[in-house]
Amino acid sequence: MSDSFAGFLHRFDKGSAASSPPILLLHGTGGDENDLIDLGRAVAPGSALLSPRGPVLEHGMPRFFRRLAEGVFDEADLKQRADALADFVTAARQRYALEAPIALGFSNGANIAAAMLMQRPDVLSGAVLLRAMVPFAEPPAASIQGTPVLIASGAQDPIVPASNAAQLAAQLRERGASVDHRILPAGHALTQADVNLAAAFVKNIAVKAPA
Ligand code: MLT
Repeated sequence: MSDSFAGFLHRFDKGSAASSPPILLLHGTGGDENDLIDLGRAVAPGSALLSPRGPVLEHGMPRFFRRLAEGVFDEADLKQRADALADFVTAARQRYALEAPIALGFSNGANIAAAMLMQRPDVLSGAVLLRAMVPFAEPPAASIQGTPVLIASGAQDPIVPASNAAQLAAQLRERGASVDHRILPAGHALTQADVNLAAAFVKNIAVKAPA
């Protein structure tokens, strides 16, 4: 069931394994808080799932921030929305007694996760960015030393040029993140290879985390 809290309609599933890292699910344009629940369960079985709905509407389609055109972002809005989402996550951690989550974002959701990593570096413990692109032309000089990030790009993605995803990987590495950038034989849509990669990545973080 969805619930409204700290400005975000969201779903929360407390999961079954307290030792698994919580997952912040961030859907793509036109999705909602229900969209990625099955993906979250497949990627991180047993983890708590926190799944907000993007508060911006574009022709009725929920998003996490405004854009001026396909791939052209309203960066002032993005900055404000990334702060609001970070504040929601911080409040939700208190409410549900959660560790810092790993973001699992697709497309628009991956883009705001990348923005949060660079703008509010303490909010996420890691991120899986599926079909992400550079959120800020000139990102803030954050330190995200050692934060694990998986970027999964599609070699035939018509929305995210390969050079753009490579630039995002470079920006995150410059800020200290430990980035694994994979390029899959796929378009913008997700494939089973994304699920497998993301699951292995999250499992590896859970194994390394202190009990
Ligand atoms: C975005 O607007 O975040 C990207 O263009 C991806 C999308 O949502 O289509």
